[in-house]
Amino acid sequence: MVIDDEQAIRLFLEATLEDEGYSVVTFGDGTDSLDWLSRSVPDLVLLDLMLPDMSGIQVLDSLKKLYPHLPVVMITAYSQTDTAVQAMKLDAYDYVSKPIELDRLLRVVAKGLEETADVRQRFQQSNQSDLFHGINDVIPSQSVAMQEIYQVVRKISGGPSTTVLIEGESGVGKDVIAHLIHRTSAREEFPFLEVNCAALPESLLESELFGHEKGAFTDAVNQKMGLLELAHSGTIFLDEIGEMALNIQVKLLRVLEKMSFRRVGGMEEIIVDVRIIAATNRNLVSQVRLGAFREDLYYRLKVVDLMVPPLRSRKPDIMPLTEYFLKIYSKQMSKVFHEISPKARQILEEYNWPGNIRELKNIIERTVLLEDGPVLKPEHLKKLKMENFTHDLPLRIQECLVNPLPDEGIALEELVGELENALVQKAYDASHGNQSLAARLLGLNRDKLRYRLKQYGIKES
Ligand SMILES: Nc1ncnc2c1ncn2[C@@H]1O[C@H](COP(=O)(O)OP(=O)(O)OP(=O)(O)O)[C@@H](O)[C@H]1O
Ligand SMILES: [Mg+2]
Repeated sequence: MVIDDEQAIRLFLEATLEDEGYSVVTFGDGTDSLDWLSRSVPDLVLLDLMLPDMSGIQVLDSLKKLYPHLPVVMITAYSQTDTAVQAMKLDAYDYVSKPIELDRLLRVVAKGLEETADVRQRFQQSNQSDLFHGINDVIPSQSVAMQEIYQVVRKISGGPSTTVLIEGESGVGKDVIAHLIHRTSAREEFPFLEVNCAALPESLLESELFGHEKGAFTDAVNQKMGLLELAHSGTIFLDEIGEMALNIQVKLLRVLEKMSFRRVGGMEEIIVDVRIIAATNRNLVSQVRLGAFREDLYYRLKVVDLMVPPLRSRKPDIMPLTEYFLKIYSKQMSKVFHEISPKARQILEEYNWPGNIRELKNIIERTVLLEDGPVLKPEHLKKLKMENFTHDLPLRIQECLVNPLPDEGIALEELVGELENALVQKAYDASHGNQSLAARLLGLNRDKLRYRLKQYGIKES
């Protein structure tokens, strides 16, 4: 990773290092760099001391807090020896001065990578191994956001009964995480019971959760234990908690506070020891605002809050998951699929996956069932909807601008249209569908905005 405000230096370093076989990302200021670093970890950083928005020292400081073992090589001007010393105190790996001496730079980079190879490997292994030990139906994610989730899971599974809230779009793997928490905890040998709060009418959900006494209501011919009781010492998973009726929310809050409750129609206080994991694909904050979800319960639930990112923002996971699904379905259906063509690979990676991992799993299941192996090909992926493809628009525009125009020409109207579409969508999302605000963000009047919303079929995403 190269962070330098001078474009010429960025280009020079990028070209030189790529020639040496490294892959390079470059950034011109501190904010963008730190933003990227919060999601990805490079192997080494070359960091300029003077940045437009903050000092290199500040970036170094934040960086070291995020990743203490990451080697950071400072780029300094001759006049900046004091600051270079300061940087070394902050645990910078080394520094090179401008004008950059190429040999020295390459030596420092190679040495920095070599000396930290062990730490890097250990970091990657420690992040994976223990949690997934003995678990072979879950593919660990490579993304930093998911690694952080695993880190938290590791901590809570050791703890007593911390309540966990798992948020994320449909199909991202919330159930999988809930199971993982249970399977890696001391509660593992006790029940894991789950209930979908959206699937049952209010009264049924209530007696399902809390149980009832004989005669509590017309159909209550016998006493019945609720899931909370049955899950004693184990875990109860409340899926789609956002759909829970307010009346039951009150009772659940009491369970969370006192770890006790009464059966429907009962007088006796029943004390239980369960871990409660709740999941939702709705935005609970807006449910709270609408008065459909109790604020006190929301805060009580999110003692630990895990936000599972959508598949489209963790692209490195797509291939390992695809390979895994190909393998299990091939085995199940006695077929052979053990290869993915490069073009199919590209399609899978560029697709937006609105249905996340579930959608990927389904398409692979369908393909293995209906098609012949051994290669997964683009024609097997025709069901994926065109509108859900991300093309790297900024990159393509930039390519057109910096390179000579190709002989076969470019599709100007299409390209400009795509750009317009993307920007209008962005403004519309940012204003949560408020047209006047979106128009203002785009410097358009509302009529022009409406015309474009219609033209591109834009809805809030
Ligand atoms: N890391 C993983 N490895 C293997 N399979 C996975 C992984 N994550 C998710 N899946 C599979 O993807 C599918 C969707 O996952 P899951 O049911 O956990 O999603 P969800 O977030 O609970 O969705 P919903 O909001 O619709 O309930 C499941 O079949 C699950 O087994
Ligand atoms: Mg689920």
